Parts: sequence; structure tokens; C-alpha cells
Amino acid sequence: MTEGSATRTGHPTVVVDDLHIKYKTFASGKAASGTRALLQRQRGIRVVHAVKGMTFVAHEGESIGVIGHNGSGKSSLMRAIAGLQSPASGSVFASSQPALLGVNAALLGDLSGSKNVILGSLALGNSRAQADAVYQDIVDFSGLEEFIDLPMKTYSSGMAARLRFSIAVSRDHQILLVDEALAVGDKEFRAKSEARIRELREQAGTVFLVSHSMRSILDTCSRVLWIDHGNLKMDGDPQEVVDAYQASKN
Ligand SMILES: Nc1ncnc2c1ncn2[C@@H]1O[C@H](COP(=O)(O)OP(=O)(O)OP(=O)(O)O)[C@@H](O)[C@H]1O
Ligand SMILES: [Mg+2]
Repeated sequence: MTEGSATRTGHPTVVVDDLHIKYKTFASGKAASGTRALLQRQRGIRVVHAVKGMTFVAHEGESIGVIGHNGSGKSSLMRAIAGLQSPASGSVFASSQPALLGVNAALLGDLSGSKNVILGSLALGNSRAQADAVYQDIVDFSGLEEFIDLPMKTYSSGMAARLRFSIAVSRDHQILLVDEALAVGDKEFRAKSEARIRELREQAGTVFLVSHSMRSILDTCSRVLWIDHGNLKMDGDPQEVVDAYQASKN
């Protein structure tokens, strides 16, 4: 593991200390086509060890890319930093509540879009007066004005994702987590979201960007973490880490 040459002068904002994440799932065995013995073996609790002891410190002013193959544990790590996933062992410390773009706002299907905008806004830490003040901006950004009085459960998944995203980006965050898999919506909305993400990145103290696009990683990050099978395989200079990652795939 190499240490990056990135600027590490800012205060620590996120400390991840020997973090382990495990998922317990019930395997029904129904997918197996084989014999009774095979079914018995596949039934019961299966444990997936998604993050296997990661340690690193993020600082103010850093823009940290997170790369690695599908299922390597990137989103699990982001959820743990955001406090949405509890560790099996180890710990995560953050200097302020991190915002994970797209999923932080827990919205309620029975309530109208407009009620959810207020609710989500309060959940981000706004006061009622602040929530009222940013309400119209959120609705405008979402482009969902004509549906805003309908219950959220009547929204398509794309519409719901747009509203969640619009709420999440309505506030500046000290620690911003962007999991690109969450980028949503049609082409026009994507362009708008990407522009807003860039703006937030400029204002945030520390940004994590999970992406499969090495171009956006190299364009925006000062440091890159390569996650491989739940392990932090490399941590350092973007070009060096991206080169090593790409070489490993050949
Ligand atoms: N809720 C869950 N229940 C059970 N297993 C899960 C759950 N979420 C993730 N996993 C498993 O944990 C591992 C890591 O998944 P994770 O979503 O963190 O990967 P990722 O690096 O974000 O992948 P991708 O690049 O595809 O987004 C995978 O094996 C996945 O199947
Ligand atoms: Mg993911």
C-alpha cells in the first residue's frame, strides 16, 4: 500500500479504523436445481464479508476517488461512512454528518411530494424556516412541479430518485459522498445533477466519489482508494492507483 502525495494538511474529517462489514442473508436454496443434498447445503444464513478491515484517514480539502470492481465493497463503505450501515467490527468517525447523495432522505410513499420535500429538508438538518426557504428551489431543480401534490408512491422510480437527489443537493455539506451508481434521471437531469455535484464538491470539505469512470476520477480527485474484494488494496496518487488498477484487469 502506498501513501499518496496529495495534500494532507487539512484537519481529519473521516477516520475509518479497521472497519469490517458483514451482511447476513437467508439463502432459500430455491435457486439450486440439483439434488436434495445441494438444497440442504444452500439453505440457511449466508454471511457476506463485504469489507474486511479497512483503515484510512480523510482530511479537509481532499477529493477522494473510490474505485474497484463490482461487488468489491465501495457502496458498503460509503453507507458505513454515512452511518447507514453499522460495522460488524471496527469504527468510523466523522467530524460532521456526511451526506450520501441520493439516499440520505428517507421519503414516505403515502405523503405528497411537497410534504416529502419539507420532511427531507428537515432530515438534512434544516430548521422549519430554512426548509420553507429552500422548498421552491428543490421543486424547481427536480422539475416535478406538476406532480408535487401527488403521493410519492405514484411516482416512477426515476421521478422519486430525482426528488431525493434534489433534496440531498439543496444543502452544502462538509463531508459529501457521491456514489455514481446513484446518478439518476434522463440525460437533461443528469447534466444538471453533474453540474450541481461539481459545485458541491467545490464547497465541501471532503468529497468521496465512487465511480467506474477513470476519466471522472482523474479529473476530480486528489487521492484514490482502490478497493479489492473488501480490502483496501491501494491508497495514493490518482494516476498511480488508476494505472495499477487498470493493469490488474489485463
Ligand atoms: N444488503 C445486502 N445484503 C447482502 N449482501 C449485500 C448487501 N449489499 C451488498 N452486499 C454484498 O456485499 C458485497 C459488496 O457490495 P457493494 O454494493 O458494497 O459493492 P460495490 O463495490 O459498491 O459494487 P458496484 O461497483 O457494483 O456498485 C457484494 O458481495 C454484495 O453482494
Ligand atoms: Mg456500488
